[in-house]
Amino acid sequence: AKLLVLHGPNLNLLGTREPEVYGRATLADIDADLRARTLAAGHDFDSVQTNAEHVLVDRIQAARGDGTALILINPAAFTHTSVAIRDALAAVAIPFIEVHLSNPHRREPFRHTSYFSDLAVGVICGFGADSYRYALDAALARLADAP
Ligand code: DQA
Repeated sequence: AKLLVLHGPNLNLLGTREPEVYGRATLADIDADLRARTLAAGHDFDSVQTNAEHVLVDRIQAARGDGTALILINPAAFTHTSVAIRDALAAVAIPFIEVHLSNPHRREPFRHTSYFSDLAVGVICGFGADSYRYALDAALARLADAP
């Protein structure tokens, strides 16, 4: 099966961006770990980081035709704003797991609302780069059950 990982805006800056909030791991570090573990489990892997909302919408739409079985997404700031990305995920009806490095619920009130959580299979947040590892564990368990 194929796993698609989507990273939203400013996550390209991980490692240098507010390290006290987001940690020191770079996005390349995180993706390398996710890729290696997904391939080792016998699945296909693709990952995209973009600062552009429409690129995420287009990639999610394309996922319907490319065999993606599951999406792992950190929508970043779009978590709290994007009806368009939410609608794309609903349209393709591919199950997804929502991930955040920080715990948005212990941050500013505007981060307490997610346009994604009520559609997600599950949400993992607050564990820094480990949030992605835990989400991948959940994703691999699900893919193991997939055809
Ligand atoms: C984030 C949390 C969001 O509130 C924020 O806008 C981000 C990153 C996280 O991973 O903790 O850019 O999604």
